[in-house]
This record gives sequence, structure tokens and C-alpha cells, in this order.
Amino acid sequence: MRLSWVELRDYRNHTHTRVDLGHDGIIVVAGPNGEGKTNLLEAMHFLYSLGSPRVSASEPLVRHGTDAAFVRGEFETRDGRVLVEVEIRRKGANRLQVDRSTVRRRRDLRRAIRARRRGFMDEVVVLLQPTRDTLTSSYERVLRQRNRLLKEHEGRGAPPELEAWDEQLIQTGAAVIQARAESVDAIAPEASQAFSAVSGYDLVVRYAPNVPANDVEGGFRRRLDERRSDELQRRTSLVGPHRDDLELAVRDLGARSFASHGETWVAALAVRLGLATAVEAAIGEPPLLLIDDPYSALDPSRRDRIASILAARPGQVVISVADEADVPPRATAILDVRAGSVIARNEAA
Ligand SMILES: Nc1ncnc2c1ncn2[C@@H]1O[C@H](COP(=O)(O)OP(=O)(O)OP(=O)(O)O)[C@@H](O)[C@H]1O
Ligand SMILES: [Mg+2]
Repeated sequence: MRLSWVELRDYRNHTHTRVDLGHDGIIVVAGPNGEGKTNLLEAMHFLYSLGSPRVSASEPLVRHGTDAAFVRGEFETRDGRVLVEVEIRRKGANRLQVDRSTVRRRRDLRRAIRARRRGFMDEVVVLLQPTRDTLTSSYERVLRQRNRLLKEHEGRGAPPELEAWDEQLIQTGAAVIQARAESVDAIAPEASQAFSAVSGYDLVVRYAPNVPANDVEGGFRRRLDERRSDELQRRTSLVGPHRDDLELAVRDLGARSFASHGETWVAALAVRLGLATAVEAAIGEPPLLLIDDPYSALDPSRRDRIASILAARPGQVVISVADEADVPPRATAILDVRAGSVIARNEAA
């Protein structure tokens, strides 16, 4: 999948930006701090995921002093071209068009795209991002209702309806756990390999479900029994995939609490690379890979190794760099960003 071109109007600090991306390979978004590089990558991300990786509200995305931002762009997939156009409104619902017909809800977009076998919203990402997935949204609906029941229950003992909700929680939750376990299995090997190629030691990527993974339904039921009185006391659900974790361990220590700044960043990067590979396997073509500022937390030798890993990847890889020295020698295109304007540098080396 390739982004052929993208156009931004009144998107954050971009009044009007249009860039042609055309080719595979490394596309570098270059410029000093605060000029609008992250904003450009965020807009590209928005086009295929219909959300920002940074904020959940629309308001911050709309340029100060205007009422709406527009992002449009065309994806080239192995099944054909798709034009996606989004109007992001400061107030009210966003408007979305795919191939010039209006799509009302994100779910409909997913359906429209999936129906045409176009792999935009990659399934693996969806599974790893709970709010974006229908499996997880049915789980979340059950969870919300079960929580409300626990919260509003007066009197002694368990509310009579609780058992029925337990069953629903187990059914919808087991599906989520299964899907997550599969997607983590899909990303882990490549992620560990990328990490050790860069760092020289291992990263362990492990899904840590909140209920035992070997016998999900039975384990879920047992954990619910064990935590029953805690749940009644705390008036909320304490068992299930809403309490899952993705464990990353570096040098046998948990990455979240023990890894250094640079190690944490390499781990995050490695997981992204693993994800891209898993998505490629799932949709049959490399996805667009967007990496904001990959180098700044890294020492020179890690920078070099990451650079060669990125250069070796198939498909489009868009990175941003604030330091000219980090522009890779084999970039396909260099886009210079200044004050929310973008100019393609001539004949990238
Ligand atoms: N809604 C908005 N309207 C106008 N300007 C905005 C809006 N949101 C962010 N900005 C401006 O965009 C600029 C930041 O852009 P961005 O984060 O893309 O910078 P950057 O080039 O990635 O910098 P760095 O190298 O520091 O990461 C800031 O000056 C910020 O004030
Ligand atoms: Mg930035």
C-alpha cells in the first residue's frame, strides 16, 4: 500500500500543503523543531486510521482561527486506488468520503474497505488498539454494563443478574484474548529480531493476559470466582482483558520500569517494525510505515543500525528528522518543512 499524494488544509500549522509521495523507499520529512513535521506525519496517519495517534479530540487538529481542517489523499493498493477525504470539524462530527461517496461512520468505512479487500486499517493494529475493533467494542459494551450493575447495586451479596453478565463477559472477553494472543504472536519474532539487531541483546515481547491463556474460558470463570468479593467491594470489574498487558522485557527486566530512555525507544520502534511485518503478511503488501523522529533518542551506532533496517524495508517508510545529519543518503524524497509549508527538495540524492 502506497500513499500517492496527500493534501492538508488548515491542519494544525499547515495552511495548505500538498505533497506527492509516489515511490517506495525512505521519504524524509526534514526541518527544525516546531515547523510542522510531526503534524504532516500525523495527517498521513489520520488518513488511513481516521484518528490521530496523539489526541482523541478533533479540536487540536484544526488550525487556530479556522473551523475545519481538511486532509485528502490517494492510496494505491494492490486492489486499486482509493481516494480518502476527511473534513475534521472543530465542533460536530467529521465528514468522510471514500472515492467521493460519503461514509457516515468509521465502522462503515472499515466495512466498505474490507468488502473490497483493501487493507487500510490493518487487522493487527486494530486488534492491538481496543477502541478500534468490533470484537473489543462488544467486550467493552458488556464491561460497561457489568460495571454499572456493580456500581448501582444496593444491598447485600451479589446482584442477581451478575451471573448472566459474567457469562457475557467471558464470551466476549475470550474472543478478545484469543485475537490479541494471535496478534502478539505475529509481531513478536520480528520485533525481537529488530531489537537485537540494533542493541545486541534481546527484547522479550509477551502478551500478558489478565486471565490464564491456556484455558481461557475456564480460567476466566475461576478468576471471577476468586475476585467476586473484591469486585463487590470495589464495585467494578477486576477480571478480564481490560486489564491485559503487553510485556516488553529488556535484559530480563520489565521494559516499562527498567529500560533506559534509548532502550525504551528502540523497543517501541522494534514493536512497530514487527507490526508492519505482521500487517504485510496479513494484507499481502507492505503497509505505509510512519515513524516520527526515529533517531533523536539514540546513540550514533544505534542510529546507523536503525537506518539500515529502515532502508532495507519494502514499501514506503516516512520518517521525520530535525537534524540534517540524520537525512539518510539513500532517501527517495526529502520534504523540507518550514512554518507549516512543505517544499520537495530537488532530486534527492
Ligand atoms: N491547531 C493548531 N493550529 C495552529 N498551529 C498549531 C496547531 N497545533 C499545533 N500547532 C503548531 O505546530 C507546531 C508544531 O509542529 P510539529 O509538532 O509538527 O513540529 P515538528 O516539526 O515536529 O517539531 P519537532 O522537531 O520539535 O518535533 C507548533 O509550533 C504548534 O504551535
Ligand atoms: Mg515533531
